[in-house]
Amino acid sequence: MSTSPTTPAGVAPDLKARHRAMWASGEYARVADGLIPELGDVLVRETGVGAEDRVLDIAAGTGNAAIRAALTGADVVASDLTPELLAAGERRSSEAGVGLSWEQADAEALPYRDAAFDVALSCVGIMFAPFHERAAGELCRVVRPGGRIGLINWTPEGFIGQMFAVMKPYAPPPPEGATPPPRWGDETHVRELLGDRVTDLRAERRTVAIDAFGSGAEFRDFFKSYYGPTIVAYRANQDDPARVAALDEALAELGDQALVEGRMAWEYLLITAQRA
Ligand SMILES: C[S@@+](CC[C@H](N)C(=O)[O-])C[C@H]1O[C@@H](n2cnc3c(N)ncnc32)[C@H](O)[C@@H]1O
Repeated sequence: MSTSPTTPAGVAPDLKARHRAMWASGEYARVADGLIPELGDVLVRETGVGAEDRVLDIAAGTGNAAIRAALTGADVVASDLTPELLAAGERRSSEAGVGLSWEQADAEALPYRDAAFDVALSCVGIMFAPFHERAAGELCRVVRPGGRIGLINWTPEGFIGQMFAVMKPYAPPPPEGATPPPRWGDETHVRELLGDRVTDLRAERRTVAIDAFGSGAEFRDFFKSYYGPTIVAYRANQDDPARVAALDEALAELGDQALVEGRMAWEYLLITAQRA
């Protein structure tokens, strides 16, 4: 695994260090493997990844999409800002005998040459790079003309978008000039970001069914234990029991509202496009 990602020009290196530490907190694999493995399958299938493709998964985490892409026989690079997540994915893929490369890389400064890949994927990943234009530029740069792009991003109105809205007043402030992650789940924003660098852009709102939680409090406690951004929001308020209690209540209420007969439906935006 390469271990020294380039920091984009003009970005404070400590911002990237904080983001890495946030995603390394908890145990993100429990979310990827326990709740949303279906999304990796959807992305690989909808982008038509096959054995002839060289594929980049951007913000791959523990390899939700990357490992499934590699199972088709494709030549796959799983890239991510957070080495701890790549290491967990690498352990899992080597135990399963699936071959792919795991490389530390910032979505806003990808260490790959222009047009290096037939396909670039990102499954609820690129949305967390704070400077959207920069990440969109890098995404388009590394895909060859005629190559494919496939993205899954949480929508602002969907459950995870709403969870980020609930956590916002409690979370550390974003860097100046950052755009909120769920905007990548807004079709108009994505069309503007990718512009005429792509053709045949198709956008579809879908939901993934989640039946892992019996109550809003159970959902909250799971995210509080395992999901980096939620852990960081609680940590930022740990000296203020009233704020911790308010966040506890708000997250449990959000979860309760979303539960219908023991199930939640988390909305995402699926984007497929061709590089112009
Ligand atoms: C919600 S996880 C998604 C991981 C994986 N794609 C999946 O489907 O499970 C978000 C990922 O974005 C990564 N990430 C956040 N900011 C990033 C950046 N600037 N460049 C690359 N990866 C980043 C995190 O390390 C984390 O692995």
